[in-house]
Amino acid sequence: MQYFDAARTADRLDYPVLIPALRSGMATEASVPPRKHYALDEGTAEEAGATLLVMPAWNREFLGVKLVDVFPGNAARNLPALSSAYVLADGRTGEHLALIDGGELTRRRTVATAALGAALLSPEDARTHLIVGTGHIGGAVYDAYAAVRPHLSTTLVADPHNPAGARALAADLVRRGVNASPVEDLPSAVGRADLITTATLAREPVLRDEWITPGTHLDLIGSFRPEMHEVDPSLLGRATVFVDHPVALTEAGEIATALARGVLTEEDVAATLPELCARTTPRPREEGEITVFKTVGTGLTDLVAAVTVYTST
Ligand SMILES: NC(=O)c1ccc[n+]([C@@H]2O[C@H](COP(=O)([O-])OP(=O)(O)OC[C@H]3O[C@@H](n4cnc5c(N)ncnc54)[C@H](O)[C@@H]3O)[C@@H](O)[C@H]2O)c1
Repeated sequence: MQYFDAARTADRLDYPVLIPALRSGMATEASVPPRKHYALDEGTAEEAGATLLVMPAWNREFLGVKLVDVFPGNAARNLPALSSAYVLADGRTGEHLALIDGGELTRRRTVATAALGAALLSPEDARTHLIVGTGHIGGAVYDAYAAVRPHLSTTLVADPHNPAGARALAADLVRRGVNASPVEDLPSAVGRADLITTATLAREPVLRDEWITPGTHLDLIGSFRPEMHEVDPSLLGRATVFVDHPVALTEAGEIATALARGVLTEEDVAATLPELCARTTPRPREEGEITVFKTVGTGLTDLVAAVTVYTST
């Protein structure tokens, strides 16, 4: 069995390779059962909240499972709260083929999925990109988008929860020759942006509905629970909404709240990512249309990324 640590995993998941692989992989048949959560803290009070997540997926050729251990108590030990590995096997024989660093795999497939959403939905002539959130995921957004929208000329970086993080990420991009700047005036930055990507842990919306101007495309990465909101749910009432997977309708706060308030109906959700990927012609944008792509992450994107790691040379 081959082993891919974080560095070898990153080497094999260049965005110009991974994003097209996701695009074709999302349109092919696969089994992706719901992920399982196991609470591990019964009887071990010091590990309150410790959880094991098991996320399987398979197609005719490959079978994979992502294991994520979440140990919130690790903060006190100066260790990461999350530890993750992907085990890839042959789909015909079950033989194990590779053990892959789950953190790097998830980071790259997540920003690649959001960038794929932008490739399929955002205005071709988008020039100004606003990144909101500068953590593990937010820090990787720029590179994925550069692979699908090479004509972006300005990158604005915001992190209302951690302005120093925005300054650090923007400085890092500038060192790499990118026209990037940190922003603290979020309403004005949102007004300037053609394309917005959010990757935060926000519960209360960081982006207000009234700030979003006609013609903007948004990719929302952060929320994964009904109480988490990165944008005002009311925005979804005037936007065309897309999701990576229907589970986003119950798991993502913006969508769940918009549905509960009657701002959005399930029928209003225009398409899922597999449906968008199956299109043979680009989806035309209407004049002034606001589009929102919400990704919560799926086992299929993990499988496609793991197969890309294993099969790339
Ligand atoms: N869609 C997916 O497939 C997918 C995959 C992985 C992670 N995620 C989600 O993306 C989000 C970011 O993950 P990460 O690994 O970068 O986390 P991180 O902890 O490394 O970074 C969190 C970011 O959110 C900001 N933040 C924290 N609390 C906030 C608040 N209350 N309001 C506004 N901003 C806040 C921080 O300043 C930072 O920029 C998380 O919600 C995570 O679950 C989604």
